[in-house]
Amino acid sequence: MRTPIVGGNWKMHTTRAEALALLVALRDGLADLGGVEVAVFPPAPWLGDASNILEGSNVAVGVQNVYWEPRGAFTGEQSAAMLVGAARHVLVGHSERRHVFGETDADVSRKLRSILDAGLHPVLAVGELQEERDAGATMDVLRRQLDGALTGLDELPTTLVVAYEPVWAIGTGRTATPEAAQEACAAVRSMVAERFEAAAASGLRVQYGGSVTPQNIEVLAAQPDIDGALVGGASLNAEAFIAICRALAAAKRI
Ligand code: 13P
Repeated sequence: MRTPIVGGNWKMHTTRAEALALLVALRDGLADLGGVEVAVFPPAPWLGDASNILEGSNVAVGVQNVYWEPRGAFTGEQSAAMLVGAARHVLVGHSERRHVFGETDADVSRKLRSILDAGLHPVLAVGELQEERDAGATMDVLRRQLDGALTGLDELPTTLVVAYEPVWAIGTGRTATPEAAQEACAAVRSMVAERFEAAAASGLRVQYGGSVTPQNIEVLAAQPDIDGALVGGASLNAEAFIAICRALAAAKRI
């Protein structure tokens, strides 16, 4: 059985006051919840606040981006090694990093390695553009992105989480149908099984992301290969995010 995992990707949102209020609301509102892992990914300036407020709580801290070198003359960047102690999870391969900032599969692979080397837990995001889906290329894109990211790894890292986030569903209110999300998440698992071992892939947690809300989480969570959600917009609202976490815990309870 896979423990479901929910991530709240705040992207470049929140003032410090908003962040503090959200962190306290999540810490308190999720204090009694078991059966699900929860992580928030606040903007980097609020990481210290997040780790202070969430220490000892049910909510882990994640970061949205790292650079692959451990240190050096890389103005504006932060290394995975610098985040040890402040964060547990790191997002890598998010579509905004790929499509707004031009990150390549090779960049994603280097970042993923550095996250693993630092002992942090990567959340690898993959997903197709609308035109790629229209062209019937979804599975090719997922395979290319997974192969690109996982190249050179002999074993499937047990800490790895993969987030399937179709780009056309991100921030658009156009959630993938439960059937399409299930098909892609199952495909991710079988591609990982082909690359590593079936047993390892059966333990891999695959999240769905893209316009997840308290209203649509139930049908998504009912899908057998969806083990959690990566939430953008709805993670900025404590009530909505808590409702999503509770729905996942309930859906996956044994
Ligand atoms: P939305 O939930 O706002 O569509 O964002 C999804 C996302 O990109 C999470 O990483």
